[in-house]
Amino acid sequence: MMNEEQKQLLEAAHRAANLAYAPYSKFRVGAAVLTPDGIFSGANIETASTNLGICAERAAITHARMNSQNTITGIAVACPDARPGEDGTIEENGAMPCGACRQWIAELAPTAWIVVSSSERVYSLDDLLPHAFTL
Ligand code: THU
Repeated sequence: MMNEEQKQLLEAAHRAANLAYAPYSKFRVGAAVLTPDGIFSGANIETASTNLGICAERAAITHARMNSQNTITGIAVACPDARPGEDGTIEENGAMPCGACRQWIAELAPTAWIVVSSSERVYSLDDLLPHAFTL
């Protein structure tokens, strides 16, 4: 279950989703990362050349690092366009970080807790990417 700090970070992720540029997928994603200096957010940015977009999570992590924040204690991801499934609920996997973002989290925010808009659960990296690739 999420605590107040986690709910606040998720609200920041929802605000960030409004800044997404997703005219192709029409699937906006916002992410926010918590650091000792505060919250840094990001949103997905797409291009007409399909493979060249950036996910919200990687944009947010980059935003934090460009502000000299290398310690990320929490990550929130909001997908306001995720649709409820046939049973009326939004499935967990409707709005979870993609594989590439999980690899970034493993490298740049390995101890962060992770919350998503589709679930009350609080995830760890090991929940999302067990046996992660490292050198
Ligand atoms: N997307 C993210 O921003 N984060 C994820 O973890 C999964 C997918 C974006 C990429 C693309 O702009 C849109 O969602 C639809 O795939």
